[in-house]
Amino acid sequence: MAQPGSFAEKVKQQADIVRVVGEYVRLKKTGQNFTGLCPFHPEKTPSFAVHPTKQIYHCFGCGAGGDVFKFVMEMEKCSFPEAMRVVAEKCGIRLPERRERTPEERRETQQRTVLLEIHTAAAEFFTKQLRETAEGKVAAAYLEERGITEEVITAFGLGYAPGGGDALARQLRRHFPEKHLAASGLSSQDGNGRPYDRFRRRVVFPIANESGKVIAFGGRALGDEQPKYLNSPETPIYTKSHVLYHLNNAREAIREGGFAVLVEGYMDAITVAGAGFHNVVASCGTSLAEPQVALLSRFTQRVVVNYDPDTAGIAATERSIGLLLEKDFDVRVLALPGGADPDAFIRRHGAEKYKEALAASPPYLDYLIGRARQTDLSSVEGKVRALNFLLPFVQRLPNRIARSEWASRIAQHLSVDEPVLRESLRRAAADRRSEIKARPEMVFSTMRPAERRLIKILAEAEDLRGNLARVLEAGGQHRGLATEKIFDALITHALAGAVPDPGMMSKTLEEKDSRVLFGILFEQGAEPTQAEVDSCLTALQRRKIEDELSAIQKQLEGTLAPSDLREWLGRKQRLQRDLSNLDNS
Ligand code: GTP
Ligand code: MN
Repeated sequence: MAQPGSFAEKVKQQADIVRVVGEYVRLKKTGQNFTGLCPFHPEKTPSFAVHPTKQIYHCFGCGAGGDVFKFVMEMEKCSFPEAMRVVAEKCGIRLPERRERTPEERRETQQRTVLLEIHTAAAEFFTKQLRETAEGKVAAAYLEERGITEEVITAFGLGYAPGGGDALARQLRRHFPEKHLAASGLSSQDGNGRPYDRFRRRVVFPIANESGKVIAFGGRALGDEQPKYLNSPETPIYTKSHVLYHLNNAREAIREGGFAVLVEGYMDAITVAGAGFHNVVASCGTSLAEPQVALLSRFTQRVVVNYDPDTAGIAATERSIGLLLEKDFDVRVLALPGGADPDAFIRRHGAEKYKEALAASPPYLDYLIGRARQTDLSSVEGKVRALNFLLPFVQRLPNRIARSEWASRIAQHLSVDEPVLRESLRRAAADRRSEIKARPEMVFSTMRPAERRLIKILAEAEDLRGNLARVLEAGGQHRGLATEKIFDALITHALAGAVPDPGMMSKTLEEKDSRVLFGILFEQGAEPTQAEVDSCLTALQRRKIEDELSAIQKQLEGTLAPSDLREWLGRKQRLQRDLSNLDNS
């Protein structure tokens, strides 16, 4: 196991398996995975896949699989510590005992530290202005009028940038050198070398990184001045596309609630969170960027997109759906009635109504069907347009049954002949022949779905794992399965309270078991629930009883002494009773 905090763990967290494998294998993005020709067995069509989120690889052809270290060990025929060094080198991760840092690197680190201090000082300055100056009172009145309470102002660290010109610069210059102030983007110099502040006469929203450190600001004009919003420029500590507003305060609620609400703007995030929905983040700016999606995927795979229902917001919603699906998100869409953004909606109708709307938000395909139906469907051209709009989204569904269900649904809603629609889907699918041919039956032939699912849950479902491990430990439902060893390894980890790291675990598993494990981790599936766990356990229990029953049946068909016969019959009845109890429970 990579010990938490160990160098191996650090390397693994920072390493990018796609990049490392990409140096040996030509990879192509296919849906959520990257695929290519397997380097471990000869083949002409790609069956080798790399999962960028889970950071694992698996070959559906020969069954090879593992994490980034395993891959390098196999390719370079080297030991684990050597593989770790190779990965660290390739990913630019500094090895502990390596050379001294260059003066350049030291300067950069120092600059980042000072920039963070400058932003902390600026945030303090802005909040003070809001509370203590006459000008700030005007801004406070503006916020009050918008329904922002004192509590919310404090929680979000809202402030005010005065109109004076260089008030902030004058304050900061007392503590920080000029070159760092310039790099912060908070103050610049005009043509005559006079400093002036970037934010003037604006309400300011501090933007924090994941660990809660202020790294930038957004500022809103008090009236109709343009631009309505102004942001910090990109700096050494702030890259706009890598930050989600409010994520630092939302992460707990996202984990607890199991999903995130994605909104467009600062005010939306503030009002939504203020109304008690703390799992909200804002993309700030209309469209979501890929790094923001990657960031979010570290906390959840489920999101409700709640953008403004205006033209820009609708276009941004569709783009965001595409990006989120690429990263395997389960996406729902909330389009609020009355043309309201979340902020306006909550102020008009209250938190309770928002909660209802949130709960009722449809899966993205329902939303998109609704959009498609807004176009003129009376003509053939109209229908073709609507289909062309919808099909790419349907195609992204990983599950064939779901695709088929959606096809029926779309056919019905657009009044399209269903066979015709299925044919279009098939043709569209044929255009993506680069897709890997999965041959899971090779590895999984003897496995039951319940068995696979429970292994996946033990490996990945943080909230269900511990309890499931205890039940299996006590009940032994997995005993006698071909995958018993995999279960045992996962149960041991879970009972120890450790997060199972399949890459590390595979070192103690036999090669064939390790292959099966990675194959399972590559399967896609919905978020597991306790109810599902229970029904999988029941399935395993039933299998156990049925196996015993058929053994008894064999005995009964042989010749038995009368006393033995009675005993076997008694056992059979007990087992049959257990079986019917299972069915009725
Ligand atoms: P309010 O009008 O204060 O309620 O804000 P809003 O969130 O409703 O604004 P809107 O829907 O127009 O914009 C959503 C987000 O886009 C804002 O929070 C900003 O992050 C960004 N944005 C809007 N207008 C501008 C602009 O003029 N310049 C920049 N850089 N960003 C903007
Ligand atoms: Mn608004």
